[in-house]
Amino acid sequence: MMKLLQTLAPFAAIALPMVAALPTAATTRTVIQFSNPTWLENVAPARNGSLLVSVIGRAEVLLIHDPTLVPATSSILATFPNRTSVLGITEYEPDVFAIAVGSTTPDNQPVEGTFGIWRIDLANKGVSKITDTPSLGLLNGMAALNKDTILVADSWRGNIVKLDVKTKKYGVVLEDASLKSNFSAPSLPLGVNGLRLHGDYLYYSNTVQRLIGRVKIDKKTGKAAGPYHIIAQGQTISVPDDFAVAKDGSVYLTSPLAAPEGDTLQKVSLNGKVELVAKVDGPTAAQFGRTSRDKNVLYLSSMGGFGANGAPKQGGKVIAVNLSK
Ligand SMILES: *[C@@H]1O[C@H](CO)[C@@H](O)[C@H](O)[C@H]1NC(C)=O
Ligand SMILES: *[C@@H]1O[C@H](CO)[C@@H](O)[C@H](O)[C@H]1NC(C)=O
Ligand SMILES: *[C@@H]1O[C@H](CO)[C@@H](O)[C@H](O)[C@H]1NC(C)=O
Repeated sequence: MMKLLQTLAPFAAIALPMVAALPTAATTRTVIQFSNPTWLENVAPARNGSLLVSVIGRAEVLLIHDPTLVPATSSILATFPNRTSVLGITEYEPDVFAIAVGSTTPDNQPVEGTFGIWRIDLANKGVSKITDTPSLGLLNGMAALNKDTILVADSWRGNIVKLDVKTKKYGVVLEDASLKSNFSAPSLPLGVNGLRLHGDYLYYSNTVQRLIGRVKIDKKTGKAAGPYHIIAQGQTISVPDDFAVAKDGSVYLTSPLAAPEGDTLQKVSLNGKVELVAKVDGPTAAQFGRTSRDKNVLYLSSMGGFGANGAPKQGGKVIAVNLSK
């Protein structure tokens, strides 16, 4: 999540990231667009090809029934009482998803104590709370370690929490300088934001520190099993929100801030090389399709892009980026 719009001025002095465009520009297509404002925050493809999409500003999870259809259709899969926002989504058992739900203020801080983790059973259309997490700050990206264990980025406290979905016990499992938030920063204080598990590595983005990194972890305990490695940091990349990891371990990074800090989908290779894949309005997260038809398609959620007044310039969209050449 990245919503601290009034605070972007400090970034204006930052030079345009010097990135080469890919030789063959990827083609992008709007799958579906919602009314303005609709901040789409995260996207999670289901096994059968449908997409779950979370919304900030209305505590909803939407289902895009078939993103390969033109036009695609959607329905509301879940709503949450007395909360304003849904952020991270991760599948931890076949067709069972954990999601981060809480309230955020109009100036986009977490309402302390309102966050919790819920469960959506897609096949049975069941929605239930796993646990409230009153001691945590702003729950953001999530990644399932196994069918009992979920990792959650707390962008406010600047660390990663492990939740056991059976015992409902949770606590901080990963702490590092590269995960921290920064309340002295003139703008976005959000630390660790997106989380994706790829092989033995947990990849993470940190918004305020403008970095993408990864750490090898123990797949049972979630503890670090190697050093925290920063893949790219600073002006070579856009101010990062969430991302997808490709088979080869490279990262497809989204940044919703207005250009030149964002409005980009970038590819960051493990050697730190950064390439512009596509210019996109306000992308907030990315995930690869899971069916044979769309495994080379990257689905992006978007908040619509920021206009000059700091408000979204259009309704949020789901965008399909075809990466097969
Ligand atoms: C709604 O949530 C707030 C916390 O944001 C809490 O103080 C209040 O009691 C809740 N209201 C209801 C009706 O549950
Ligand atoms: C996937 O499953 C969900 C839940 O049963 C259903 O609503 C949706 O239409 C299915 N999608 C496809 C593409 O069949
Ligand atoms: C936090 O932000 C301040 C102000 O930009 C900066 O001087 C400081 O180095 C940052 N701290 C860390 C740990 O990055």
